[in-house]
Amino acid sequence: MTRPDCLDLPPLIGAAGSVQLPGSKSISNRVLLLAALADGATELTGLLDSDDTRVMLDALRALGVRVDGSPGDPAAPVLVHGCGARLPQGSADLFLGNAGTAVRPLTAALALLGGDYHVRGVPRMHERPIGDLVDALRAIGCAIDYRGQPGYPPLAIGRGKPRVDAPLRVRGDVSSQFLTALLLSLPLLGSQRDIEVEVDGLLISRPYVALTLAMLERFGVRVDNHDWQRFVLRAGARLRSPGQLRVEGDASSASYFLAAGVLGSLHGRGGPLRVHGIDASSLQGDVEFARVLERLGASLRWGDGWVEACGLQPGRQRLAGGDIDCLAIPDAAMTLAVTALFADAPTRLGGIASWRVKETDRIHAMLTELRRLGARVDAGDDWLRVWPMRDEDWRAASIHTYDDHRMAMCFSLASFGPVDLRIEDPGCVAKTFPGYFDAFASIARPVPVLAIDGPTASGKGTLAARVAAELGLRVLDSGSLYRATALRALRMGVALDDEPGLAELAARLPVGWRDGRVLLDGDDVTEALRSEQVGNAASTIAALPRLRDALLGLQRAQRRAPGLVADGRDMGSVVFPDAALKVFLTASAETRAERRYKQLISQGISTTITDVLRDLRARDARDASRSVAAMAAARDALPLDNAGLDVDATVALVLQWWRERT
Ligand code: DC
Repeated sequence: MTRPDCLDLPPLIGAAGSVQLPGSKSISNRVLLLAALADGATELTGLLDSDDTRVMLDALRALGVRVDGSPGDPAAPVLVHGCGARLPQGSADLFLGNAGTAVRPLTAALALLGGDYHVRGVPRMHERPIGDLVDALRAIGCAIDYRGQPGYPPLAIGRGKPRVDAPLRVRGDVSSQFLTALLLSLPLLGSQRDIEVEVDGLLISRPYVALTLAMLERFGVRVDNHDWQRFVLRAGARLRSPGQLRVEGDASSASYFLAAGVLGSLHGRGGPLRVHGIDASSLQGDVEFARVLERLGASLRWGDGWVEACGLQPGRQRLAGGDIDCLAIPDAAMTLAVTALFADAPTRLGGIASWRVKETDRIHAMLTELRRLGARVDAGDDWLRVWPMRDEDWRAASIHTYDDHRMAMCFSLASFGPVDLRIEDPGCVAKTFPGYFDAFASIARPVPVLAIDGPTASGKGTLAARVAAELGLRVLDSGSLYRATALRALRMGVALDDEPGLAELAARLPVGWRDGRVLLDGDDVTEALRSEQVGNAASTIAALPRLRDALLGLQRAQRRAPGLVADGRDMGSVVFPDAALKVFLTASAETRAERRYKQLISQGISTTITDVLRDLRARDARDASRSVAAMAAARDALPLDNAGLDVDATVALVLQWWRERT
């Protein structure tokens, strides 16, 4: 299956609704391994269905473990038949993708059991360190060789003679997964003596180790934790199936939705957004993210099996900034890097050295992509500082995601900024949350757009202005951008068929609006734009694809809170295809010619109805026949022939449609 190249996200004004979290990745892969190695069968419900868990399941099956069912079916549990510490297959070649939660514990388990195994992954996995774990295992007599660069997978595992008569030592300051891998696997030795594991260096990501201990306990193994420095596995430890086990929702995945429920309230439309699958009793460390969010000013409610984001606390306009120690929440901390763009002061995330050795160098990736949005950011070995952004700082951006699911997920929150956002390779979320962008779309409330398209003199401009005033929305007269480009071209002597020259001019159009007047390079050109000469020139250049492309960004940039009424020819079909309501306004050429004629005469311009009708037909033909964005109603547009309706009746009808839709 090919993955889409990119996903465009519209700017958001709010987020609300509810989301069922997928199962926790950390718990899923831990319990799959424990169930496979234990005595007896285990029935697992709520398992995560993702790339990382599929890799673990495939590996267990390749090792001869019987697994019935698949996590893809949420209704049916997965039944794992434990092998009682004796794997049926003594040899296997295991491809483990980019799943750290599979590579590390499987390496330890296979090395302690002994056999003829190969462990490998994607190229990035071969850059993620494993030397500290291999050193710890070799020190107790396991046979492991590097098949590529020393210190990194791929690995060849043989049959060693593991002995644990002295304490094991393992480093804890690069990845806590090394310690987790050892603790999950050491019960396989069936030692009749206590086994001690000592941690070298300050142990990071402690909540993940706590999760390991909690899962071991479910499988009947007690480990004493002496101040996160020394762990003692009691004599006679043996993994025994608990029979049934329910996997909690993923707390790291919850972070995006809780943040969305809070950020939405910046525009007054935040929450309530409820995530089902975690609560205050959750075992996962990343639940702490929700507490951090509360300290920064979020208003959350906690229930039985759910947490709900209700927006900001009363009296708060934005989230607070400040120093945040992220040592315990390395994954959810990425979400904070993006919410920091919406804070009221700079935010410094500390204790994030482990970001360097994750799916990508996350400090570098975060720095680069936040800057792409126009943010001020700096970083060091184990920290990142993000300054809040003002509306005018934001730049529309295409975000590179580095094959890192969390980059893709946390940057979706940048769509609360006032710009269009593109997420590259959105399919990378399949690592832990294949349905992420569908879930995000289901709670996202895009800045609403009412698109009014139609031919010249159909009354679009009047209708758009009236409706926008009634609804308190912004208004975009897109024709004025084509006219302004035409006027500038006429003034600067750029030929009307010079496509590259015109596109260049449109891309840097110094246009602005003030009190309903149009400014070009600071001059009020409102009247000049309405002349027939400029209108005809606009219609001519509007047929040029590159020019239309160049004006696209400028038009979309007008989509800001609280919402936009946009009129033109292709608002519903091209510029805002996701508009909440699309109206296609028409009237016969004769009716429109009569309106235009009266308008011109009232402005003191002398003309005849025959001339006006001829010009109007010619312009209709040009607008309808050009090769790009030819004027045509969007498929989902509501046609509205206003020949027999006065302005008030037309406005009332459109307002009624809008209220029905929004
Ligand atoms: O709506 P108007 O008459 O101000 O538009 C002037 C010209 O600009 C019109 O002849 C076609 C072009 N135009 C366009 O091609 N697409 C739009 N969205 C708006 C205007």
